[in-house]
Amino acid sequence: MRAVIPVAGWGTRFLPATKAMPKEMLPIVDKPVIQYIVEELIEAGIFDIVFITGRHKRAIEDHFDINPDLEQHLENAGKKELLDVVRKISHLINPIFIRQKEQKGLGHAVLTAKPALSNNEPFIVSLGDILIKGTNTVKKMLSIHQKFGKSVIALFEVPKKEVSKYGIAKVKRVDDEVFLIEDIVEKPSPKEAPSNFAVVGRYLFTPSILEELENTKPGKGGEIQLTDAIRSLLQKEAIYAFKVDSAAVFDTGNKLDYLKTVITFALEREDLKEPLLKFLKELVLLKDKKEKENS
Ligand code: G1P
Repeated sequence: MRAVIPVAGWGTRFLPATKAMPKEMLPIVDKPVIQYIVEELIEAGIFDIVFITGRHKRAIEDHFDINPDLEQHLENAGKKELLDVVRKISHLINPIFIRQKEQKGLGHAVLTAKPALSNNEPFIVSLGDILIKGTNTVKKMLSIHQKFGKSVIALFEVPKKEVSKYGIAKVKRVDDEVFLIEDIVEKPSPKEAPSNFAVVGRYLFTPSILEELENTKPGKGGEIQLTDAIRSLLQKEAIYAFKVDSAAVFDTGNKLDYLKTVITFALEREDLKEPLLKFLKELVLLKDKKEKENS
């Protein structure tokens, strides 16, 4: 099975950091966000990965390629561990890069992958912003797909006031963990939202989604929305869903959540845990003290 990762977006929320660097290369401690997304796919046995990329995203191609100069330098310097880390990345996957010449929305990005996808095999779409810790979400989608043979979408519960940031699904329970999607809307207002079950950015699609995408007109924001294509696919095929634990979801696409992600991941690292926690505690004490002095 193949996977598609759309990575053509501008990353305007992180300017100026993303002026010359893809937002997907922002580091979570010392690993770029995109590598976490790729590792989740690898763990689920998926190695053929189609990146929908753009002119300003070359660093992603370089990240998954070999770097002979750097490898030589690390070898000469006797930095064996770093050499292994660097070499491993270039042998992780079989990357396929397709340029999305114009950015016409997520649906359009997925459709751009069509030449690299098979007509009769399902495929995964993983969005580059959201990291999900714990149980592997892609593996979970694969196992639900094996059981029901249809598309599967991962959802997570969000506070009602945040529904307008996501695709929101109306669902019906099938069993302890599986739901059927009854309806789906892209970024509704809290008033319009059919629930608070949001699309988390991991999808498994039957190839029929491509046909729907071909017929999808621009929707919210004038863009070709993947959610709209899912909505029309619902008229023809059942689409299943399951919930991931909201506490395991890390949205690196906005500044505050990005910082929370970096700190959470760093606090799990043996080499950083203690000194970072000590620093954070001291920082909080100092801030409290200053606030008291000023009040
Ligand atoms: C996209 C999708 C949305 C989904 C979200 C998850 O929106 O259009 O349905 O809920 O990703 O992150 P974006 O975040 O690209 O605006």
